[in-house]
Amino acid sequence: MSETTEEVNTTSLFYENGANYWSEVPATLDGMLGGFSDISQTDIKGSRLLLKQLFNSKNPPERKQALDCGAGIGRITKFLLTDFFENVDLVEQNAAFIEQAKKYIGSKSSRVGCYYTEGLQYFEPVAEKYDVIWVQWVVGHLTDDDLVDFLKRCKKWSERKRCDDPERKRNFIR
Ligand SMILES: C[S@@+](CC[C@H](N)C(=O)[O-])C[C@H]1O[C@@H](n2cnc3c(N)ncnc32)[C@H](O)[C@@H]1O
Repeated sequence: MSETTEEVNTTSLFYENGANYWSEVPATLDGMLGGFSDISQTDIKGSRLLLKQLFNSKNPPERKQALDCGAGIGRITKFLLTDFFENVDLVEQNAAFIEQAKKYIGSKSSRVGCYYTEGLQYFEPVAEKYDVIWVQWVVGHLTDDDLVDFLKRCKKWSERKRCDDPERKRNFIR
């Protein structure tokens, strides 16, 4: 069913308010974590454990290409994803954060492919590109409908059609 004008307006306002909020936030670690930059390494440690579990599972994904969604200044790319993947793309709605990410990621930027400045609700990269799609501290910034749609699109972006093993194929979405 198509959205009513009222629903479209509410959704637009939701994203406008979100973008306005983030435009006031400094492009720093503290900014990314709402003033709690002290928890960053503990947070990363938990994420690292999760990724290790994933790679130790029966049908692990490949380690070629990851996508960091709502990447901010690239905290997750810098301290997590570049340690596990040959290449990482970033997508982030705030242009100032993307510009800062290009500096902040430092020497690890040699592992970064594309920096996309776009809201996840619109993002549509090439299909079948990603082994892992990482979304940390971001899903609350999408409406419920857009989150469902985003997850469906993630499936498309990560499915490896060249892979014939149905077990393995199923495991690309976790
Ligand atoms: C709490 S920060 C987390 C940043 C990063 N994932 C991290 O853990 O350091 C949330 C990020 O989501 C971004 N964001 C908010 N709404 C978004 C949207 N609709 N599409 C893409 N990114 C969005 C914000 O600009 C901000 O960079």
